[in-house]
Amino acid sequence: MATTTPVFPLLLLLFAAAVVAVPPSPYLSPTTLFQNYQNMLTNFKIFIYTPAKPFTFQNPAASLFYSSLLYSPFHTQDPNEAHLFFIPFSPETSMRSLARLVRDLRVNHPYWNRTLGADHFFVSPAGIDYSADRNVLELKKNSVQISVFPVISGNFIPHKDITLPPLNPAARIISAVPENASTSSFLGYLKWDGKTESNFVEELKEDGDFLIDIERELLDHVEKVKNSKFCLLLHAGDVAWMVEAMAMGCVPVVIVDRPIQDLPLMDVLRWSDLGLLVEARGGAKRLKQVLNDVSEEKYGVMREMTSAASKHLVWNEETQPLDVFHMVIYQLWLRRHTIRYARRQSF
Ligand SMILES: *[C@@H]1O[C@H](CO)[C@@H](O)[C@H](O)[C@H]1NC(C)=O
Ligand SMILES: *[C@@H]1O[C@H](CO)[C@@H](O)[C@H](O)[C@H]1NC(C)=O
Repeated sequence: MATTTPVFPLLLLLFAAAVVAVPPSPYLSPTTLFQNYQNMLTNFKIFIYTPAKPFTFQNPAASLFYSSLLYSPFHTQDPNEAHLFFIPFSPETSMRSLARLVRDLRVNHPYWNRTLGADHFFVSPAGIDYSADRNVLELKKNSVQISVFPVISGNFIPHKDITLPPLNPAARIISAVPENASTSSFLGYLKWDGKTESNFVEELKEDGDFLIDIERELLDHVEKVKNSKFCLLLHAGDVAWMVEAMAMGCVPVVIVDRPIQDLPLMDVLRWSDLGLLVEARGGAKRLKQVLNDVSEEKYGVMREMTSAASKHLVWNEETQPLDVFHMVIYQLWLRRHTIRYARRQSF
């Protein structure tokens, strides 16, 4: 005779213990991520149209992405094996020239018409706006845009477009610094650009719990980050150092008065648990309340996830596995399934 009563609660207990033991993951879906990533490495092919004339991106992140792609194994010369098509053009291109460029692609190559641009992508650091021109409109609405975080709201289409984290040349030097924030003397640190004036910044300046930086002394800056629990980033101001702050284990707090969906690696990282979004309109008082409401336990998890995530946001001159170049390519790989149809197809 057997009694089964204790089995179920025991299993439940074991299950609960297993769940608790899993370290916090900075990823939205860790299991599919690594499997898909492997598939991407083996299969992904991108065809690159030849630009009308050679050009360079002034933006360091866009420039590095472009050169890394050109020399990567994803680049194919054979459009027939390509999953996606890249249209390189200078950020200085006028709307008129852009319209002509798309029209030329439409007329001279068979690929645009198959999806009206949905399997095409382009890099525009500031993003492009809507246009009355049909060609630019198709590019804007159908093709995947890669721009640099943060993007002004009209220039970004959530779930389709992608952003690159800004590249801060100082980041590599700084991220080697060991981290320990448990002795933090400041609640938040704002690396202020000295330009973006607002009541909010004025309030922070007067509050002893916050540290505002206006100088650009590198080591001084590292000390300040290490002495602060949270790093405050004005969405409209200086966000270029977001990744270095994260690499130092400083939990990012983005100050923005509207919902944002243009964070880098939005399809990969669990941003909702990695950092905080706080509205400036609540002032310093509201900010303090939000930051103080984060329990020590929750803060520990955020810190761990922040530094784990920062590895994927770092730019390398020579690309490394799982670095930001590969993660952006991965986001393109996730967007490769487009509906292809032939015009004038008869059934
Ligand atoms: C694509 O479609 C347009 C009509 O929208 C047509 O003018 C053009 O010739 C087509 N391109 C190709 C390569 O067939
Ligand atoms: C961080 O600081 C705390 C308190 O000063 C100390 O107990 C802990 O060992 C330090 N951790 C590291 C990794 O240095």
